[in-house]
Amino acid sequence: PKVTYVSDAGEARVVDGLVGDSVMQTAVRNGVPGITGECGGVLSCATCHVFVDEADLDRLEPVSGLEDEMLDGTVVDRCPNSRLSCQIKLSDELGDLRVTTPEAQE
Ligand code: FES
Repeated sequence: PKVTYVSDAGEARVVDGLVGDSVMQTAVRNGVPGITGECGGVLSCATCHVFVDEADLDRLEPVSGLEDEMLDGTVVDRCPNSRLSCQIKLSDELGDLRVTTPEAQE
């Protein structure tokens, strides 16, 4: 599956992701700026905050209680389409995704 990362400045970068990897891991592995992923994906840092494209939002697993709590602590305030990208796992069923990274993560 492909993941399109759009920067806060509007610059898009398309990356080929691996099934089973998260959107956070895919960014870090490919050197995509805008996602830090400090805690490695265990929901304790909120530095993997992204805004998910409205067209993709409904296909994602719902936000868990802990993710919801952590989303209250993001550096750039959360929006209705905010998710923590370490919680979005790539799969063929989910397909391609498009996310926008916030201006800052820390
Ligand atoms: Fe830390 Fe997602 S990488 S919460």
